[in-house]
Amino acid sequence: MKHVFFVVLLATFATTYPSLLATKSLTANAGSFPAVNAAQLYAKQCASCHGKDGRSKTFKGKLKHARNLTDAEWQEKVSDERIFNSIMNGKEKMPAYGKKLSQEQIEALVTYVRAFKK
Ligand code: HEC
Repeated sequence: MKHVFFVVLLATFATTYPSLLATKSLTANAGSFPAVNAAQLYAKQCASCHGKDGRSKTFKGKLKHARNLTDAEWQEKVSDERIFNSIMNGKEKMPAYGKKLSQEQIEALVTYVRAFKK
């Protein structure tokens, strides 16, 4: 009798535990996969010119005359569409990212650039 109980217990454990694990990893993915990590993208693709703080005080940024993304006046007059376009197609010495990044990633970067507004 004890033996049967143990087998049932084991079977229950084996069938419920993997499914528990599966739902856990699914929800973990749902949280991080579709959402674009804009901070990471920016640090990797943009910070070399625009700097981590967006002020473009880096050596490369100064050399290329990269825009100060924290400039309040610029932030005021520029539209989201233009920021999107500039990232997508490039502008002067700013490289185009249309082939490198997805539309979703560029949209996330527009929001990230907006956050530099002082
Ligand atoms: C090689 C250096 C370089 C890199 C890397 C770079 N930029 Fe630029 N960026 C520039 C330069 C130079 C300008 C100024 C272009 C102009 O206004 O004529 C600029 C301008 C901009 C502007 C202003 C555009 C406008 O229409 O006023 C935005 C927004 C911007 N960059 C965002 C980004 C983002 C986001 C990334 C990363 C995906 C990035 N940049 C990567 C050099 C760079």
